[in-house]
Amino acid sequence: MKIKNSNTDLTKLNWDEFYSLPLNQKLGYFDKEGRMFDCLFSQQLSSNNLKTLFDLANKIRKVAKEKGGLDWLQTLLSHKRAMLYFVQPSTRTFVSFQSACYILGMKVSEIRSTSTSSELKGESPEDTIRTFSSYADLIIMRHFEEGMAEKSAWMLNKTKRPISIINGGSGKDQHPTQALLDLYTLNLSFQDKGGIDNKTIVMVGDLKRGRTVRSLSYLLENYKNVKIIFVAPDYLKIGNDVKEFLKRKKMPFKESNDLVKCLPEADAVYVTRIQDEYDINNESKNIDYSKFHLKKEHLRKMKKSAIIMHPLPRRQELDVEIDKDPRAKYWRQERNGMWIRTALIAYLFRIENEINRY
Ligand code: NCD
Repeated sequence: MKIKNSNTDLTKLNWDEFYSLPLNQKLGYFDKEGRMFDCLFSQQLSSNNLKTLFDLANKIRKVAKEKGGLDWLQTLLSHKRAMLYFVQPSTRTFVSFQSACYILGMKVSEIRSTSTSSELKGESPEDTIRTFSSYADLIIMRHFEEGMAEKSAWMLNKTKRPISIINGGSGKDQHPTQALLDLYTLNLSFQDKGGIDNKTIVMVGDLKRGRTVRSLSYLLENYKNVKIIFVAPDYLKIGNDVKEFLKRKKMPFKESNDLVKCLPEADAVYVTRIQDEYDINNESKNIDYSKFHLKKEHLRKMKKSAIIMHPLPRRQELDVEIDKDPRAKYWRQERNGMWIRTALIAYLFRIENEINRY
């Protein structure tokens, strides 16, 4: 495999050299025969990819409604095995990926903590991943370390048994399949309202360490004139890397610390929790996060047509009373995750035409 960009042979670089390259110079390394092989970053997903995946998810959920259809889907990858390597806490991402594998008939193995793998005996994460590739045809991973999914894919692509890697969350950095399900939910919610183009999305909460907001911001590049309003406490503002990206792509955005003031403009409000697991010195304790809670009394400030999203899990930032409001879409958003992740796996195994012919 020889992948060249203008002046570097990517296959010759060591990990540190590769990791420090700008993303647009190395995305091709994670493709095979012109299509995505590893799903690691939102920036890999083009509007064509998104359309293919949304249509495929819609088709799969329709086929799966009937027993005959689901039985048939379960034959498609019954010869394949997936490894779920989730060494950071997870409920939805884990179960929805596991369910997605079952829908396509895959056999699934799991490791959910480094304390139950040979990493406790001192094995490196790299050797652990390489071991999975001896048994599995796909690795879906969540790791506390930024860049670990990328490093795993980089390393496996050099071996004689490269298998696809899906990033189910890489530290504070990215969570591309969450962004995918968020976008699928936005797309379904706005299908009779002109689609995602021209919409205003308020993203509120811990934008500094919340990987879902970062990945979603990148993915919105694929739509026209989407305006993002980032609402966060000073210490938890969105990173400069995301802002630089939006500026480069000429995507309109602004920042605020007044949630209530921004609500009337929103077509979607994307609420997130404080990510205090990344605290170094308990700094979250000193932040007044209550100003960034969406409360029942705020709902009247929002458009009737607006929607409320949350990647979940939630704490007090999203009042449970809001669940009853028809604009609350987060439970549906969660379920959409299973279908779009099924579509992604089907796409990586190149069975989308077979499914679409059913
Ligand atoms: C998110 C995550 O893990 O980043 N959860 C999820 O995958 N639905 C959000 C969070 O934990 O706050």
